[in-house]
Amino acid sequence: MKLTYYGHSTFAVEIKGKHLLFDPFITPNELAKDIVVDQLKADYLLITHGHGDHVADAENIGKKNHAKVVSNFEIVSWFEKKGLAGHPMNHGGKVAFEFGTVKYVNAVHSSVLPDGTYGGNPGGFVIWNEDICFYNAGDTALTMDMKLLPLICPKLDFAILPIGDNFTMGYEDAVVASDYIGCDKVIGCHYDTFGYIKIDHDAAKKAFADKGKELILLPIGESLDL
Ligand code: NI
Ligand code: MN
Repeated sequence: MKLTYYGHSTFAVEIKGKHLLFDPFITPNELAKDIVVDQLKADYLLITHGHGDHVADAENIGKKNHAKVVSNFEIVSWFEKKGLAGHPMNHGGKVAFEFGTVKYVNAVHSSVLPDGTYGGNPGGFVIWNEDICFYNAGDTALTMDMKLLPLICPKLDFAILPIGDNFTMGYEDAVVASDYIGCDKVIGCHYDTFGYIKIDHDAAKKAFADKGKELILLPIGESLDL
């Protein structure tokens, strides 16, 4: 499985020959100005919640690639009105796609779409097949609900967690979250994009290392094989 970081909370995942793109927010992100949006591939667009910093490029990329939007019912309905195909879900539900199973899980945050349309409740995704299992928390606070994941999902190989503080949990709480979800390999997201969420990378990595955990901060545009 190949994972590529495109800044903020935007990740591409290649899994079983399918291209998954999470929360595309590239064009408005000055830090991601070297990323060519028109070159991105997406068979599936996975949207955690409706905020602009998670959906900004979704319509364009979705239309160009004939991608299927996977999110909560309200967000999928919003994209369907714009002409995109979708698969609506809601919290606690899972569905088997050709690349693996997707479960939409709780997040503690808010969710409104850029035009003011109600965006349902915010969520995260756990995705697995016989080879790998990972969690993308979306924007969330640390929440006790994370303790459910080891009970209801396969063992996580890695997790994408927000660490930028202010709008989501900060890295200190993300260390606790990694305990709750039973996963010591964390890829950070939702940091540095705006002034409110600028973080000290060394301090964040040390907070994880002090607990015997790994925090990966991928440079924008770089990939990992997992
Ligand atoms: Ni948000
Ligand atoms: Mn956000």
